[in-house]
Amino acid sequence: MNITPAWKKSVQASLKTNIEKIGTSATYASLATVTEDNKPAVRTVVMRGFAGEHYKEETGWQSNLLVIITDKTSRKINEIRRNPNTEINWYMNGTMEQFRIRGNIDIVDKEYAEDIVKRPAVSNLTNDIAPKLEVEVSDNIERNSLALQSFLKQQNVYNRANSDVEAKVRPFNWQAERLRHFIEFGASMRVNLVHSKQKDGDNEKVSPMHLEIKEVDQISGWFDRNNEYLNEAFENFVLLVVKVTSVLYWSPSTGTKVLL
Ligand SMILES: Cc1cc2nc3c(=O)[nH]c(=O)nc-3n(C[C@H](O)[C@H](O)[C@H](O)COP(=O)(O)O)c2cc1C
Repeated sequence: MNITPAWKKSVQASLKTNIEKIGTSATYASLATVTEDNKPAVRTVVMRGFAGEHYKEETGWQSNLLVIITDKTSRKINEIRRNPNTEINWYMNGTMEQFRIRGNIDIVDKEYAEDIVKRPAVSNLTNDIAPKLEVEVSDNIERNSLALQSFLKQQNVYNRANSDVEAKVRPFNWQAERLRHFIEFGASMRVNLVHSKQKDGDNEKVSPMHLEIKEVDQISGWFDRNNEYLNEAFENFVLLVVKVTSVLYWSPSTGTKVLL
């Protein structure tokens, strides 16, 4: 893995400045796909940062892969399955900078698995994510967010199952990552992923209250698997993971136009 390429440093620096200036709207970008009849399709998404990373806490991983969250039932999923090429136009209004990010997308859904033994190196993503060996992380630190606690517990279970594989070549656990983002997503956002809305034919609508995650299992890191709403929401919860191939940067105020 090319640790922290120039484009990543640039995106991270601009994002930090823009969040300070204009808040979280700096994370909105336009994601383009190609429809079945070869037409462009563009929509606003929230850029969730880099896979395996968090701006506030260490997970023990680093990557050059951008993450977007979506719903398995959304139209773009089939478009991406047919054609994984994308361009993301990320315009940061606070500093008037534009990043045109080209790449291809892997869909990390419930079925996505990287079983070291059965499916070695199946992923397009392996070379862009690596353990941060210099950082000590423990799943027992209480100040860790619930999402990170879950991730580290899942990772431990995974590591034990693959204990014969050396730590530095052990692949990233994408299901643990999916769960980390799901917990971080928050109850009011998770509601939108429950499509059955009504409970057993009565008129009880699903509310954020039904999708709260207040604790995770101390061993496995799972939320309450008996909660049918959470299960349904998690089933539909998908990470779009962007492997970046080029970044074209343009700042109209400084006139800088450069391929990073
Ligand atoms: C501010 C804003 C942020 C959005 N963030 C996301 C997002 O992170 N993921 C997503 O799938 N849709 C997001 N949407 C909705 C999409 O723009 C789009 O309407 C939806 O994903 C359906 O697109 P599709 O039919 O092409 O799949 C957002 C919309 C707005 C206005």
